Amino acid sequence: MSIMTITGKHKEENWGISSSAYQIEGGWNADGKGPSIWDTFTQTTDTIPDKANGNVACESYNRLNEDLYMLRALRVKSYRFSLSWSRIFPDGTRKSLNQKGVDYYNRLIDGLIAYNIEPIVTIYHWDLPEALQKVYDWDKAEMIDIFNDYCDFCFATFGDRVKFWITINQPQTIGWSGYGLGNMPPNVKDPGYRPYIVAHNLIKAHAKAYHTYDDKYRQSQGGLISIALNADWAEPKDVSIRREVVAADRAMQFQLGWFAHPIFKNGDYPDALKWQVGNKSEIQGFPQSRLPSFTEEEKNFIKGTADVFCVNHYTTKIVSHITARLSPESYEYDWDFKEEEENDSPTTAIPNQKVVAWGLRRLLNWIKEEYGDPEIYITENGVATEAQTTWDDSDRVFFYKAYIDEALKAYELDGVTVKGYIATSLMDSFEWLNGYKVGFGLHHVDFIFGPLELFHILSHYSHKHESILLEFHVKD
Ligand code: NOJ
Repeated sequence: MSIMTITGKHKEENWGISSSAYQIEGGWNADGKGPSIWDTFTQTTDTIPDKANGNVACESYNRLNEDLYMLRALRVKSYRFSLSWSRIFPDGTRKSLNQKGVDYYNRLIDGLIAYNIEPIVTIYHWDLPEALQKVYDWDKAEMIDIFNDYCDFCFATFGDRVKFWITINQPQTIGWSGYGLGNMPPNVKDPGYRPYIVAHNLIKAHAKAYHTYDDKYRQSQGGLISIALNADWAEPKDVSIRREVVAADRAMQFQLGWFAHPIFKNGDYPDALKWQVGNKSEIQGFPQSRLPSFTEEEKNFIKGTADVFCVNHYTTKIVSHITARLSPESYEYDWDFKEEEENDSPTTAIPNQKVVAWGLRRLLNWIKEEYGDPEIYITENGVATEAQTTWDDSDRVFFYKAYIDEALKAYELDGVTVKGYIATSLMDSFEWLNGYKVGFGLHHVDFIFGPLELFHILSHYSHKHESILLEFHVKD
């Protein structure tokens, strides 16, 4: 099926583009903004290429109109962006309210609405206020109420215009990279224990914010609320061997089911996690499982706390069964599977993110089966290319054609309820641990000259190519 032939039918679907605050805004201490854990980390670490940071990034804080101009030119229906918590509450709590930060997001939201672009707002995309990190941290349950109060403020302040909320972006990344591997802030290396505690609190924090929206705002504002979960597709190494199929399913449960099972199924962790972590913990001599458990009351509170299923997807891994070591205790040894790259697929600028488009169709089908046919939004999908040295962006065009085609197969042929597709990202930006070495943007940003006010608006952000999304909207 060619993507060109389906354009007319898909005009009602939600085609969008994404970004996140720390990756694009810059203005890291402008107008009263407080530091976030990403400011602190990038300004003190030398592990990021070129010691890059988000101090200036794409300067979206000062170039709001240019972002709006690009969005309008793309003719997207929605723009997914995130709020910088410490721009709104510099110390993380309401008493430190920074009106200038609120004004910035009001201008952005009003600008989007004026252009008929739906704002999809992520409340928390990794940039925790440093002040909260110092005192509480996600491994403490106090964070649940603090996060809820921040969400409550956002609903009250922006919810008259924002009708699509995402509480947390990729909690699995926060838990594992932030508290297990420790390669992302807050750089805690405690792979066997803390990721589970942090995930537990993040799930409860999400659920509480959902209920706040439900109880106080849904009736008057009429929006929807969810959480963005990251999921690679796990393909069994050999589908004719049952053990490999079970291992691949376990891989899905450890990454996606960890959060999706409680929220979309029964308020509790998947059996695979309970069994694996419980069993290993017992052999390791722990008095109880390293995986915490929810009370019945908590399960009822968590179950059903998402109106739609939001999934961020980049690649596919080939999975096979192993019996992993017992020591040291670690989330990744709890898995008992190993992941390999898909040999036949093109590589990208991020070596472990190969272009395996067919994995998206399988992932969407798995979500449909596992979670009872939810409405699914692909809230991130995109490809990293080397920081641009040429205007040939055909790798990205190939990626989008291939992945969107697979999403459409899931939708048209398999009956998966795919409601939206959000490409990552609006423009090249600060790519976390990769700094500015790679770019996901549909627009190129010249980071060397970017900060200088020398150029006319369009020379700062240059189109890499005719927008692939544009094709969906205008060509029949
Ligand atoms: C997922 C993150 O949510 C997003 O911020 C990032 O740009 C992409 N991964 C690509 O690495």
